[in-house]
Amino acid sequence: MGTSRYHDIYARWMKDPQGFWGEQAGALDWITPPKTVFDAEAGVYGRWFPDGVCNTTANCLDRHVRDGRGEQPALIYDSPLADTKRVLTYAELLREVEVLGHALRRFNVAKGDRVIIYMPMIPEAVVAMLACARIGAIHSVVFGGFAAHELATRIDDAQPKMILAASCGIEPGRVVHYKPLLDRAIEEAKHKPSNCLIFQRPQETAGLIEGRDQDWAKTCEGLKAEGIGPLAPEPMKATDPLYILYTSGTTGKPKGVVRDNGGHMVALNWTMGAIYDIQPGDVYWAASDVGWVVGHSYICYAPLLRGATTVVYEGKPVGTPDPGAFWRMISEHNIKVLFTAPTAFRAIKKEDPKAEYLGKYDLSGLKALFLAGERADPDTVKWAEDILKVPVIDHWWQTETGWAIAGNPLGLGILPVKYGSPTVPMPGHEIHILDETGKEVEAGKMGTIAIKLPLPPGCLPTLWNAEERFRSSYLNEFHGYYSTSDAGYRDEDGYLFIMGRTDDIINVAGHRLSTGGMEEVLSSHPSVAECAVIGAKDSLKGEVPLGFVVLKSGVNTSHADIAKDCVRLVRDQIGPVAAFKHTLVVNRLPKTRSGKILRGTMKKIADGDAWSMPATIDDPVILDEIAKALGEANLKG
Ligand code: COA
Ligand code: AMP
Repeated sequence: MGTSRYHDIYARWMKDPQGFWGEQAGALDWITPPKTVFDAEAGVYGRWFPDGVCNTTANCLDRHVRDGRGEQPALIYDSPLADTKRVLTYAELLREVEVLGHALRRFNVAKGDRVIIYMPMIPEAVVAMLACARIGAIHSVVFGGFAAHELATRIDDAQPKMILAASCGIEPGRVVHYKPLLDRAIEEAKHKPSNCLIFQRPQETAGLIEGRDQDWAKTCEGLKAEGIGPLAPEPMKATDPLYILYTSGTTGKPKGVVRDNGGHMVALNWTMGAIYDIQPGDVYWAASDVGWVVGHSYICYAPLLRGATTVVYEGKPVGTPDPGAFWRMISEHNIKVLFTAPTAFRAIKKEDPKAEYLGKYDLSGLKALFLAGERADPDTVKWAEDILKVPVIDHWWQTETGWAIAGNPLGLGILPVKYGSPTVPMPGHEIHILDETGKEVEAGKMGTIAIKLPLPPGCLPTLWNAEERFRSSYLNEFHGYYSTSDAGYRDEDGYLFIMGRTDDIINVAGHRLSTGGMEEVLSSHPSVAECAVIGAKDSLKGEVPLGFVVLKSGVNTSHADIAKDCVRLVRDQIGPVAAFKHTLVVNRLPKTRSGKILRGTMKKIADGDAWSMPATIDDPVILDEIAKALGEANLKG
């Protein structure tokens, strides 16, 4: 292991943050280069590159075509689920983006309009994002595993002029009928988009609603037949929004995380070299979904900003067709860096503990595995290291930040790994571990992890149409800091350890969900008087939600039927991705004397962890009842 440049670079950033980010901005094309790197007076906590004018797609596409990468693959699509593969070069991707951009304009979509994208892992999803960015429309991608109601909530918040969707998605063993979900969502939403453009997949042709829906391929082919020309990138202020990505908040109403154009492209471009050690021409694979932040940053934008080749994989780590799926991908496409969630590796390990499938493939091109999205348990990290024989790097981030808050920067020279730690803060992030009064705690002591303001480029400047919620969710807890709502500590060597959320967010198979949102759904059941949802430990998915409901008096439906109803309700309202499979009917919920439900203690009992009787408990016997109910329940499967 050589010496890392990390400490020097971090110190350089600390000493002169504006000089540091100004230098990174120089690596990109600007329509008007920024004179001001940071304006502390603008926005909620300041704004990056306020007088810069740019277009993100000009940097993702045109720049590379101009520099001779037109014939290089920009995007590899590999779908074991659809049994299809396709490669798009930079020149081809640019052309597709231009044509769809023209199409959006024909539907009167203009700069600043919102466009919702509801699509599976197909190249058109990336084309859709880039086409919006090309014309300055603000995209909002909604993950395909969400139900119609969740989509409706986002439609009402973002108020899109148009929706881009596919006819269907494909999950192992079933086709996900997107179009009926879309129709239901539009019916439920108060806001109605003017048009929908539907990409008909060979697996399912969706019915189109006359006057509103148009066929994607026909529209684009029509434009090509007209001989439609190039489409100049729309000049955008660096501070104009590029996209909104909704993420779980502490209620059923998701938070619309806003990303800007300038800061985002500067930060992501920097991470590709410094964190992931990816050079132009390398193949980089983020095995996630475009519906999540990892997909936004590291399937769509960052690899293309870097001039690398990105991979759109429509499949799973196991079962498509076997636990060798990832190894096949790595060897077939010569992937240099893989980024995924620890759950994916736990799934592979469960099916192929001795990694026998690995022997069939040549993985000599793989240089590192990056993990994020949930805590990387040391067993999984060590297993991955043993079988892959490359650095396995945990890094910690959030939808809000858009890139790693802490990590082990491969491109700057890797630091010694400590299992259970995502290593050290990345330049841009000054981390403090604070107690409830906002005082810094000493090394080794737990506290809330906070980032000193300003947040670096690429992090959210605000929430969509909800500046007050932005302040109250993140900035009011500690004056002058962004609170991550993650608890953890720092050791004597400055390594961070992330121990869990301080709010009601849980991570299920690397997917971020709100137990509060699920409680809102359960409460809507006519027989339910009150309820609690906790995240219980799960050996595959990290955590899974578990519901407890107390019935209204006089309800005499069988408990089993009510439990089934509750599971169906969450699946219908939030979606299959919630992985909500179990509800226990109990007589009472344990509470403090002031009426707060003791979810933390319930979780410890469910997890089989040591717990102590909370001093403020109202009636200690109820915890025995909960333990008994858990003991009697069959929570497998
Ligand atoms: N569209 C529709 N439904 C979807 C979906 C999508 N894009 N993604 C998941 N679902 C469904 C699944 O089919 C499943 O449905 P089911 O209840 O009918 O079986 C449900 O949502 C739960 O999905 P998941 O929690 O992912 O479980 P799984 O058993 O299907 O797969 C893993 C388990 C470990 C293979 C899978 O979670 C995985 O690959 N995880 C990697 C983590 C990851 O990509 N994280 C993204 C952030 S980096
Ligand atoms: P998301 O917004 O979906 O990326 O989820 C963010 C949350 O996931 C964080 O606040 C953490 O709780 C958790 N998380 C993400 N990455 C890690 C990691 N490397 N280690 C521990 N927790 C993580």
